[in-house]
Order: sequence, then C-alpha cells, then structure tokens
Amino acid sequence: MIISILNKKGGVGKTPFAFSIAKDLSLYLQSNDTSCIEQIYPNYAVITDTPKLIDNCVYDFGGFKSAGVLKIISESDYVIVPCLPEFNSLLRTMETIDEIKKINPNIIILATDYKDDAELSFLKENLENSFKSIPIIYFKSSKIVKNAINSGKSFIDAA
Ligand SMILES: Nc1ncnc2c1ncn2[C@@H]1O[C@H](COP(=O)(O)OP(=O)(O)O)[C@@H](O)[C@H]1O
Ligand SMILES: [Mg+2]
Repeated sequence: MIISILNKKGGVGKTPFAFSIAKDLSLYLQSNDTSCIEQIYPNYAVITDTPKLIDNCVYDFGGFKSAGVLKIISESDYVIVPCLPEFNSLLRTMETIDEIKKINPNIIILATDYKDDAELSFLKENLENSFKSIPIIYFKSSKIVKNAINSGKSFIDAA
C-alpha cells in the first residue's frame, strides 16, 4: 500500500493526516517537508529531499516537482489532497489536482477543517461542482488533528 498526501498549499493538515494514517496502518512515513515526524514516529518516519519509492509507505509531500516525487505519486494506490474551506486553499487544490490527475487518477479529496454548516456548504458546493468524478471525504475541524503532531497519537489512539 502506497499513499501520497499532497497539496501545494501548506497548513492544510498533510503532515498530521499522513502521520495518523501511517501509524494506524503500521506503514512507513516519508516527507520532504520539515516537521517532527521523526521524533514522534521513530524508526518509521524519515524526512528527506530524495524520498525513496518503497511499499507500505505514506508520503507527505509539500512540493512535488522533482522527478522522484512524481514517480512516487504515479505509483501510489491513493493520492489524498486535503482542502480547507478557504478560496486560497480551493485554488491550490484545483492546481494540484490539475497537475497530478494525468499521472495518477486515483485521487481522493479530503475536505477538512470545516467548523460549521456554512463552511461545509462552501466546500461541498465548490468541490462537488469542480470535481464531479473524484471522491470526497469530509472531516470536521477537530483538536485531534493538531494533537496528533503534538502528542504523537494517531486519530484512533486519541479516540
Ligand atoms: N479536521 C481538522 N481539524 C483541525 N485542523 C485541521 C483539520 N484539517 C486540517 N487541519 C489543519 O492542519 C493544520 C496543521 O497541519 P500542518 O502540519 O500545518 O499542515 P501541512 O503539513 O499541510 O503544512 C492546522 O493548522 C489546521 O489548519
Ligand atoms: Mg507538513
């Protein structure tokens, strides 16, 4: 199982989701972005500018222009793209999906961090209109997301 989590936008939750999914599924974790994953997930997590394609791994990609990263995205079983209820995030999500859909169509949008019905509607209307054939998972704003990184607990650990 290979899962890539990516969005050109920072601060959308790539790292906490990547960590939590990796820990709950006992998968390795590689990231090309600075974070504390090596401390909270020792022996499994590596931060590197040159991620290696291996099986049983979750990839947390802040940027994905380099050849090695594109190869990993193309080999992924799932590519998860988190999106927040903000116009900027939506635009970066559209750009991100546009760039990767040709190399891997197995995309899942993670519509995340909405705090109320208005933010949920914003995400639903914009995403469902723009991406008719891409599955969307909705994930409400929750303390467990930041807690995951601060405490080293996956979402299931914290439940
Ligand atoms: N469901 C959620 N609940 C709370 N925070 C969330 C949620 N989804 C995404 N986030 C975002 O996750 C951010 C922390 O992740 P961060 O490491 O900054 O992301 P990235 O790795 O994409 O740069 C928070 O600032 C918050 O905006
Ligand atoms: Mg990150």
